[in-house]
Amino acid sequence: MYGIVKGLLQLPGRVLLKQPARWKLDTTNMYDKLKFEFTEQNLCRAKEMLTNYGEKEQRGALLPLLDLAQRQYGWLPITAIKAVADMLKVDHFEAFEVASFYTMFRMRPEGKFRLMVCTSTPCFLRGSDVVLNTCKEVLNLNENETSSDMQFTLRTVCCYGACANAPVLGVNDDIYEDLTVPAVEDILSCLKNDVIPPAGPRAGRFCSEPVSGPTTLLCPPTPPGYCMQELCKPKKKC
Ligand code: FES
Repeated sequence: MYGIVKGLLQLPGRVLLKQPARWKLDTTNMYDKLKFEFTEQNLCRAKEMLTNYGEKEQRGALLPLLDLAQRQYGWLPITAIKAVADMLKVDHFEAFEVASFYTMFRMRPEGKFRLMVCTSTPCFLRGSDVVLNTCKEVLNLNENETSSDMQFTLRTVCCYGACANAPVLGVNDDIYEDLTVPAVEDILSCLKNDVIPPAGPRAGRFCSEPVSGPTTLLCPPTPPGYCMQELCKPKKKC
């Protein structure tokens, strides 16, 4: 891996990094040797995505294309990052910086279910430490560890933007909200049986409405165009 990073750093205009260890990359595996190519179907998807961007703004598709590559491969080997960068004519190093910045990207193989416990302040105040400890105990994993059967990876993240429904646990693309210890245990037991439980709040509420039920908009909203028919009726002639 370091070989590739070093290669990237030696591109024209780049200064060679003196202390490779600070990147904390796994240099014991030869992940950089893995070949990556979009499948025919994903290549079509990628081309379709690119039509959303102007000719000079193609680099704006970096995140969606990295995401597509990750969905195809399960994680993002550096060869996939380079393939996407080449496709968008983006500097390899810039693409690597983007991929390594966002927690949504996996820079090495991880478990089939990636559990991400939000530990930011609102979730912490609502018991995210209990959620995290429950995950650790039930799965016998520590933070940032992957189970030996590659089923689970446990991580912490900062804010899903669902603070009103704290505490929150993310599993791959879904988030589970209003968590309690029994709720977390139930979710984990479903996942252990390869069943994906319905995402969303576990307090019986809809989205982020008040737990005690709606306090405003107590009657059904009027449908679009309400009273418009009346206005459109021809006026009576006097
Ligand atoms: S702090 Fe957990 S979702 Fe915002």
